[in-house]
Amino acid sequence: MTEGQRSEKLEMITLHKILFSICAFSFIYKYYTITTPNIVQIKDPQFSVLGPYNRTQCAVDDKYDQLINLNKFSFKINPQPCGDYPAGLLLMIIISSNPNNVENRMIIRSTWGRNVDSTRVVFLMGESENLTLSNQIKNESMKFGDIVQGNFIDVYRNMTYKHVMGLKWIVHHCSKAKYILKTDDDVVVNSRHMRHFLTRELSPWGARDLITCQVLEHAKVQRSQKSKWMVTCDEYAAHYYPTYCAGWAILYSQDVVPRLLKAAQSTPYFWIDDVHITGVIAQKIGIPRTSLSSLILSQGKVNMLKVLGPEYVGPFVLGPPDLTSDRIMEIWKAIPE
Ligand SMILES: *[C@@H]1O[C@H](CO)[C@@H](O)[C@H](O)[C@H]1NC(C)=O
Ligand SMILES: *[C@@H]1O[C@H](CO)[C@@H](O)[C@H](O)[C@H]1NC(C)=O
Ligand SMILES: *[C@@H]1O[C@H](CO)[C@@H](O)[C@H](O)[C@H]1NC(C)=O
Ligand SMILES: *[C@@H]1O[C@H](CO)[C@@H](O)[C@H](O)[C@H]1NC(C)=O
Repeated sequence: MTEGQRSEKLEMITLHKILFSICAFSFIYKYYTITTPNIVQIKDPQFSVLGPYNRTQCAVDDKYDQLINLNKFSFKINPQPCGDYPAGLLLMIIISSNPNNVENRMIIRSTWGRNVDSTRVVFLMGESENLTLSNQIKNESMKFGDIVQGNFIDVYRNMTYKHVMGLKWIVHHCSKAKYILKTDDDVVVNSRHMRHFLTRELSPWGARDLITCQVLEHAKVQRSQKSKWMVTCDEYAAHYYPTYCAGWAILYSQDVVPRLLKAAQSTPYFWIDDVHITGVIAQKIGIPRTSLSSLILSQGKVNMLKVLGPEYVGPFVLGPPDLTSDRIMEIWKAIPE
């Protein structure tokens, strides 16, 4: 072997070593980014997190058969999923659903709403005036045991009853859940990442004064007849709403729910539930709202997620709102479990 051949061979070996190192490094890096979600700190938190010795349980102070101005309220269907968790669930998800939306409920049950350790899901609804549908709901409830139904008519203008019923159900039947997430039935929750977020970035013992969501500020009251959200001056006199949470996804800490319920029970009914509960009432009793925007996947990033994968859109706990059931499925398939 000549000197030249020898040094060529050495170069080859060095090259192989370098290539090998690059492969190994990228493999480890990939493994690392997949197994440890990289977590964004919440900016400007308006809440505190609890440690193992903090207590938040307080006595129930609520009339069971009153729902705001309805004095004969009762739960028509009332499952008890929290009874199996004497120490309290980490997360109870309550989903406002329309009795008609059985397809959405089925998709949620098979995707992000699957029951996993320490997370449970129930759907909130009122009564349908359609007898066939009512019977189907009874069937669905027997099969899945995850429908909470109140004895008010399920119409758009009754959605504040639905939200407050959710709070009431938590207070009376699931009061030990550390966190409560209220969503609509046309959204995606990145449930695995949500649990990481709750236990690592917040605290597995819960939090205090937490209302976090997509915060809306200086929202104008809609007066035009054409608007779905048209509100008369009699219903709401001011020109602007107070700061409030977009209702499609709101994360509450345990302590906040009985306080909101108590105030809601004695505040005159206003039908836009997110404005009413997370705006008017939260402001009245002095609970601040923290923005979760840095952890919400925007509509524009959905395609990026589908094409390039979850590493490229960054960590998120919630998808965009107003999704079709196909879209829910697509997003779900693109996020790792
Ligand atoms: C939690 O408990 C500790 C120790 O008792 C106390 O100092 C702290 O203020 C409590 N945190 C909250 C949010 O109440
Ligand atoms: C009642 O519900 C059933 C089942 O969802 C539906 O097929 C039917 O069209 C509904 N009837 C009316 C009058 O809306
Ligand atoms: C309810 O379920 C039973 C048994 O599975 C079925 O026979 C019945 O047709 C269902 N009723 C409705 C309204 O879907
Ligand atoms: C809301 O529900 C109540 C109780 O069932 C009912 O009396 C009322 O008419 C409903 N509201 C609307 C707008 O239908």
